[in-house]
Formats: sequence, structure tokens, C-alpha cells
Amino acid sequence: MQSKAHWEQVYTSQPATGVSWFQEHAQRSVQLIRRTGIARDAPIIDVGGGASTLVDDLLATGHSALTVLDLSEAALNAARQRLGERAQRVDWRVGDITQVELPRHAYALWHDRAVFHFLTTREEREAYVAAVLHAVKPGGHVIVATFAEDGPLKCSGLPVMRYSADGLHAEFGAPFALLQQEGEEHHTPRGTVQKFIYCLCRREPS
Ligand SMILES: C[S@@+](CC[C@H](N)C(=O)[O-])C[C@H]1O[C@@H](n2cnc3c(N)ncnc32)[C@H](O)[C@@H]1O
Repeated sequence: MQSKAHWEQVYTSQPATGVSWFQEHAQRSVQLIRRTGIARDAPIIDVGGGASTLVDDLLATGHSALTVLDLSEAALNAARQRLGERAQRVDWRVGDITQVELPRHAYALWHDRAVFHFLTTREEREAYVAAVLHAVKPGGHVIVATFAEDGPLKCSGLPVMRYSADGLHAEFGAPFALLQQEGEEHHTPRGTVQKFIYCLCRREPS
């Protein structure tokens, strides 16, 4: 895993709308979140949410228990600034998802777009899955999006892992049931296409 310094530099050297992963609306994520039927007051965490506009759209549709966690304070500041007063309705957390302490069984839904694929060692991935098991309520949902098998080899200049839906699900294992998988062709601000895979899983009640 690369350092916090890398990500702070990324978000302080360009506008959030210029990064390759920028989406005006995180439509696929919103659709999958709707698919879970989650209540508007159920706690949702966007892990490695950065300056994503997902939080804007969730607030706009009445979600009232949102947490955005990221390694980069600059990324969260960009999102806060964009939201203005609405930012006060969100719990913002700076931390490394492989090390941070989250409250136990606190979240009904865990969302991650383009963070898990940076975990290139088995230890990091195991720490991430342990964090999901700790923080997501049994019966809760997990949405993880990574580069697909035919996606790019790097993101933000860093090496990434690429996954099929089955391969991604296998990283999480038996405590998670794969409910839905969706591919996406993401068009970057520079006009290139990046292939993503999204998996929606349910954390089985243990
Ligand atoms: C490619 S960006 C995706 C941002 C956002 N999810 C989106 O779709 O717009 C990856 C994000 O993950 C954050 N990140 C990278 N490693 C992390 C870690 N170990 N823990 C928490 N956040 C991390 C970065 O700061 C960055 O905001």
C-alpha cells in the first residue's frame, strides 16, 4: 500500500473533477444501493470515498446516516467544501482501512469503489476483509468495485489487482453471499475507458 502522502499530493495538485476516477454521478453505485432496499436512516459507510459525489446523491435522496472514510484529508476537504452546510450531516473519518478501528457491526452497507484493488498483498486484503466483518452488521450489504480482469494495470500511477466477479467474491469468502455483479465502462475525464466490476454481497448472519 502506498502512503498517505501520495494521496494527499493527488488531491492537492488537481481539482477533484480532474482525477481519472471522477464521476459526475456514481450511478452504478446508487443503483446497487437501491437494489439492497436499504432504509434511508440505515448507516452507510463509503470506504476510500475520497471526493466522490456518491455522498451528494445519497444525501439528496434522504440518506441520513452517512460516513465517508479516506486516507486523504485533502480528499475529504474537497467533498466537504463542495457540500457546504450539508457536509455537517456526514461523519468524515481520516484513516487507513487496513488499520482503522471502526465500531462493531455499525454499518448496514459498506461501499468501496476503486480502493480494494490497491491492496496488492495478502496481508492487506485479509486486514480489509477483517474490517468488513467487524464493521458490517450481520445481514448487511457490501458493494465493492475494482478494475475488471481486462481493466488497467495501474490507477493513480500505482499498481492494482484486477478481478473477475468470482475472484473478487473469493477474496471475501463464505461469510459473504454474492447477490449481483455488474460490469461498467468508466469514461475518464481524459476520454479513456476503464473496465470495472461491481459486486454486491450480503454479509451472512453468522
Ligand atoms: C481511485 S480513488 C477512488 C475514490 C472514490 N471511491 C471514487 O470512486 O471516486 C481511491 C481512494 O482511496 C483512498 N485510499 C487509498 N488507500 C486507502 C486506504 N488504505 N484506506 C483508506 N482510503 C484509501 C485514496 O485516498 C482515494 O481517495
